[in-house]
Amino acid sequence: MNNDKVQCVILAAGQGTRMKSERPKVLHPIAGKPMVQYAIEAAYSIGSRRPIVVIGHGAEQVQHALGDHVDTVRQIPQQGTGHALLQARSKLDPAAELVLVLYGDTPFLSAATIQRLLDTHLAAGAVLSLVTFTPDDPALYGRIIRDAGGRLLDIVEYKEATPEQRALREVNSGIFCYQTQWLLAHLEQLQPRAGHGEYYLTDLVNLAAQEQAKTATCSCDEAEVLGINDRAQLAAAERWMREKINLRLMLSGVTLIDPATTYVEAQVTIEPDTVIYPGTHIQGATIIGRECTLGPNTIIEDSRIGNRVEIVASLVEGATIEDDVDIGPFSHLRPGTHLDEGVHIGNFAEVKDSRLGPGTKQGHFSYLGNATIGANVNIGAGTITCNYDGQRKHPTTIGANTFIGSDTLLVAPVNIGHDAGTGAGAVVTHDVADHELVYGVPARPKVKKNREA
Ligand code: UD1
Ligand code: CA
Repeated sequence: MNNDKVQCVILAAGQGTRMKSERPKVLHPIAGKPMVQYAIEAAYSIGSRRPIVVIGHGAEQVQHALGDHVDTVRQIPQQGTGHALLQARSKLDPAAELVLVLYGDTPFLSAATIQRLLDTHLAAGAVLSLVTFTPDDPALYGRIIRDAGGRLLDIVEYKEATPEQRALREVNSGIFCYQTQWLLAHLEQLQPRAGHGEYYLTDLVNLAAQEQAKTATCSCDEAEVLGINDRAQLAAAERWMREKINLRLMLSGVTLIDPATTYVEAQVTIEPDTVIYPGTHIQGATIIGRECTLGPNTIIEDSRIGNRVEIVASLVEGATIEDDVDIGPFSHLRPGTHLDEGVHIGNFAEVKDSRLGPGTKQGHFSYLGNATIGANVNIGAGTITCNYDGQRKHPTTIGANTFIGSDTLLVAPVNIGHDAGTGAGAVVTHDVADHELVYGVPARPKVKKNREA
């Protein structure tokens, strides 16, 4: 879509009192993403210019979370939606033909609806256009006032509406499009409301009607423009977003055994023919390949998973897992774990900041930290890298084809060669050479190892 003449302004300064939170409302996450991020992505997805976000309540925190993906302006104190757009006035580029206003607390708005608004606006040659909707319960939304011929006259806020106006069901979504020149010429005519001093952006509708200027509306589903105001709506939004993500995954070829208990965050990507069992959470910047079997009861966060990987009832965080690996049940892969092709991780294994070479097996009750392990190594039950001396972490290396016996303690820093071995219960405090076999406490070489014999 070519919308490079569209300047998007996202209103996100409001306090969000009903959230009862220290955290600014627009930073509360939905499916793992701060809710304001959805409006920013919608702006980018229609190809508009770099958006301007109006921030105010918790401005520092919001600014920090947004980084430099957007321009920001501050609105302090927050005196209404009209006042919010006034703050962005000096940043509006007069060369941008249209100004599009989105809300930071309306995460379900689709790019298609925004595009429809822009198309309607241009086709009508309007100075102002907006998205309206007609919910069963129009609640506290601003009512759309039209004349007998259907011409847009005004928007009246619920608290200022007469009983007849309250009975109207067509309401304002808050999503507006303006001809930039018209907006710049009229924004400063907004007057604060007596009593509370708020400037209503909706008053521009009445200004346009008085001037007989062209206006237009298009409508959308209530579900697209629902605002998040309290924790109950936040939970509902979380559920809808999850359903939306799950549907997208299923339609793209991923099997979800029970979508109701499958929690996939917005950033995650999963390739076709992967099967997800119930009770599985996939979070953060996770990428998953084809034909994997994940869960039941598995949590995967910020990880990269290859093809044909099986993970049962385990926690995987910040890990890279290559093809044909199987994990679990009940294992914990912590940040910095890298498992090469065909690695087997069994029960009650923990790995942190370690790389395990192709085909290596870590079957039972063991811990590997700060370790570099070659190919086809066997890590016996109960093996521990003693990587921490109380002050610092130390590395362990193990060469290819080595056999670490059950209950070996590897006191780091320590290097074990390839084709070497340790006896059950060994406490390894010194390096072990290639092909060497060590036993005992502390471990010493006994005989040259000859596993083939
Ligand atoms: C507004 C509309 C109402 C519409 C409803 C749709 C006005 C006067 N009313 O009401 O007609 O039906 O949205 O949801 O415009 N914001 C700021 N600064 C402020 C106030 C608000 O940035 O000073 C931002 C908020 O962060 C939020 C958005 O504007 O993203 C809407 O604000 P909110 O207070 O929720 O408006 P409503 O009273 O719901
Ligand atoms: Ca609202």
